[in-house]
Amino acid sequence: MATTSVLISQADIQQRIKTLAAEIEKDYPATEEIHLVAVLKGGFMFMADLVRAMSERVTMDFMAVSSYGKGTTSSGQVRVLKDLDSNLEGRHVIVVEDIVDTGLTLHYLQDLLKARAPKSVKTACLLSKPARRKVAVQVDYIGFTIEDRFVVGYGLDYAEKYRNLPYIAVLEQ
Ligand code: IMP
Ligand code: MG
Repeated sequence: MATTSVLISQADIQQRIKTLAAEIEKDYPATEEIHLVAVLKGGFMFMADLVRAMSERVTMDFMAVSSYGKGTTSSGQVRVLKDLDSNLEGRHVIVVEDIVDTGLTLHYLQDLLKARAPKSVKTACLLSKPARRKVAVQVDYIGFTIEDRFVVGYGLDYAEKYRNLPYIAVLEQ
């Protein structure tokens, strides 16, 4: 297995998520529910920590999508592997993603969810790699902006490994 070097520490992630959670809470009227939709698999850990930093008005659901293929040209084609259990009509929805890279996955997902008549749709991403963007996509809450490097950990994988690291790391080849 390749070795990893820490890019964003566990403490820095936890600190940032507390700040993000407070920001999100402040942006919605106190009496209204917030429905968080995590994108599997990468978004699971961010979701778990984010909701624990939020108040009881939070509900959540999960969906799984396949990205457009490994190392091939990005077509923007996204396949839904697991759809939501919940109806989004009239709800405040926040999509919770691990990383926005080209933006193609998010762009597709946002359109898909907006078509389900939610009251609002926002997006929270732990990481953003703006240098890689292929499509303009709105991300309302960003944990950290990083350079164009392939990262793993905290939900993010390389060939399904390293998702369990409690920090974000760069693989040393
Ligand atoms: P998109 O290119 O913005 O559509 O991102 C598609 C997906 O690629 C993300 O949700 C991640 O699951 C994955 N991805 C993008 N960059 C990285 C990375 O640096 N490490 C691991 N997965 C990544
Ligand atoms: Mg993802």
